[in-house]
This record gives sequence, C-alpha cells and structure tokens, in this order.
Amino acid sequence: MLRSLFRAAAGSARLERLVESTPGSKEMVKRFVAGGDAEGALRTVRGLTDDGLAVSLDHLGPESATPERARAVRDEYVALLSRLRDAGLTPAAEVSVKLSALGQLIDEKTAYEHARAICSAAAEAGTTVTLAAEEHTTTDATLETLVELRREFPSTGAVLQAYLRRTEGDCRELATAGSRVRLCKGAYAEPESVAFQSSLDVDKSYVRCLNILMAGEGYPMVATHDPRLIAIAEDRARWFDRGPGEFEFQLLYGVRPEEQARLAAGGHTVRVYLPYGRQWYGYLMHRLAERPANVALFARAVSSR
Ligand code: FDA
Repeated sequence: MLRSLFRAAAGSARLERLVESTPGSKEMVKRFVAGGDAEGALRTVRGLTDDGLAVSLDHLGPESATPERARAVRDEYVALLSRLRDAGLTPAAEVSVKLSALGQLIDEKTAYEHARAICSAAAEAGTTVTLAAEEHTTTDATLETLVELRREFPSTGAVLQAYLRRTEGDCRELATAGSRVRLCKGAYAEPESVAFQSSLDVDKSYVRCLNILMAGEGYPMVATHDPRLIAIAEDRARWFDRGPGEFEFQLLYGVRPEEQARLAAGGHTVRVYLPYGRQWYGYLMHRLAERPANVALFARAVSSR
C-alpha cells in the first residue's frame, strides 16, 4: 500500500514541487544522492574509492521526451567519463545508463547511437557501462541494444530484474564468458501477467537466477540489500569456487553502509550505485517506497525545519 503510494508520488509533478521546496528534504536527499552536479559526484566517488569501494554513477533524470534532452544526457555522461579518467577514478568508477534517458522511447536507433558514444567514452577512460533495466515493455529492446553494444564493447553490462517471470531464461542466455549481469529484484509496478507479485516469489526467483549466474561463466553483480540474499550469494560463491574478482556485490549509496563496509572488509568487491544530479525527486520516492523506516526519517528531516 505504502509502496504503491510512493510509486504514484514519484510521477506527480505537483508533489515534486512541494517536496523540492521543503528545506528539510535536502537532508534526506544528501543521504541517497551524491550531489547536484558532476563536481559533487566526483568528491563522493573519491571518498568511496578511498574506503576501498567501487562505484557506478547514475545521472538522475526521467525519460527524455525530446531529442535535445537525449543528446544532453549523452553529453553529460561523456563529459563525466572524461572527468573520472582525468581524476584517476577509473576503473574503480563506471557508469549506469537508462536507455529511456537517451531517447529509447522516441527513437531506438538514436538511443543506441548515444549509448554507443557513452560506451566509447568509457572504453577510452578504461571503464565500463551498465544498461539499467526499466519497465518490462522495454526489456526486449534493451537486451537487443546490449547485444549490439557488446559486439564492439564486450564489457557492457546488463541489469536483470528477478521479479520478471522471463528473467530465469534471460540469465541462462547471459551467463556466458565475458558477460556482466547485475541481478536486482526490480523497482517498477508490473502486472501479474509478467511479474511475480509476492516478495516470497520474487526472492525465490532471485535465488534461482543467482544460481544460474553463479554456475555460469559470466560475471555476476549481486545487487541487493537483502541480508538473506547476500548470505545466499556468499554461500553460492563458495560452492561455485568464485573468489574475489569473480563476482561482486552492489548496493545503493546511503543504504546499509555498514553492510557495504563489512562485505568490503571480507575481501569482496563492493560497488556502490551512486546517483547524482538535480532531478532526484523520482529516485528519492522509489527509495522511500522500498523502506517504511526511511519515511519516518524523511518526516523527521522535514519537521525539524
Ligand atoms: P528489499 O527491498 O526487499 O529490501 C531488503 C532489505 O534491505 C530490507 O529489509 C532492508 O533491511 C534493506 N533495505 C532495502 N532498501 C532499503 C532502503 N532504501 N533503505 C534502507 N534499507 C533498505 N531496479 C530496477 O528495476 N532496475 C535497475 O536497473 C536497478 N538497478 C539497481 C542497481 C543497484 C546497484 C541496486 C542495489 C538496485 C537496483 N535496482 C534496480 C533496485 C532494485 O530493483 C530494488 O528495488 C532495490 O534494490 C531494493 O531491493 P532489495 O534487493 O534491496 O530488497
């Protein structure tokens, strides 16, 4: 119920204006978002890499509704990658990209060209790109783009969402040598026809997918904060004899930082997903939807002003 409320709030422009103008919301944003621009993001990346963590940067924003906006997003990523390289922050830092922000919903071919430019900038900077997973209606197009990009940039990563019924099959397809797959539960409201609805079914699917990825020849990226799934991933890594550097954990910036430190201290590669940019509202609503305790934190931050 709360989850659907915040998901609905994520799409409300009126609420967005209200939340953005509330001074206390800035405190909450700081917990989950690296800063309004690349400058602030780079500072946060430096702090995380100094702590032995890897990073995946996401430039926040909704889907691009115009070709101009899509080009601006591409240019932002290309400039960011060159700054990361100049600051000596690659390969520890890579980028995560949403094809919808590159105009996928306007013109798939142009979105592919923009993604290609970003992959090329990443290759020059000595790092990688991971394509985010969005609504299920875009999954086929995104995975087709991935196949195209991987011909030229084989290290381009995919994200698969365990809540989708199709994902076990996609894991089988992608569990091949050189393939990087981020496995997450999935963050969108999807219909029962395509997605498991109960958290138990999603968790069971996550474990089946994890088993396939860990048994396969690719590089699994275990993106979850769920203590049970993290323990299962550690167990499967031992079972399939995957040492450090043969898989990684990924967690969101600001979520369970003590767990991020614990995993890194245990010798695991831990990548922090680090969003930055001015359009943080939709992202923040999704984080609130995931965890009621954050709503209380948010309410306290707002009311203390
Ligand atoms: P779940 O939400 O069930 O939480 C399990 C436990 O983790 C909770 O009980 C709590 O202890 C802790 N926790 C979770 N969220 C918390 C929070 N916000 N604050 C504090 N504690 C929290 N989705 C998608 O659809 N497409 C994508 O491309 C991506 N990309 C992506 C990258 C990375 C690196 C991560 C970690 C996640 C994504 N996601 C995503 C989001 C993902 O699908 C999912 O919505 C969130 O990770 C939350 O799911 P969990 O696996 O953490 O489990």
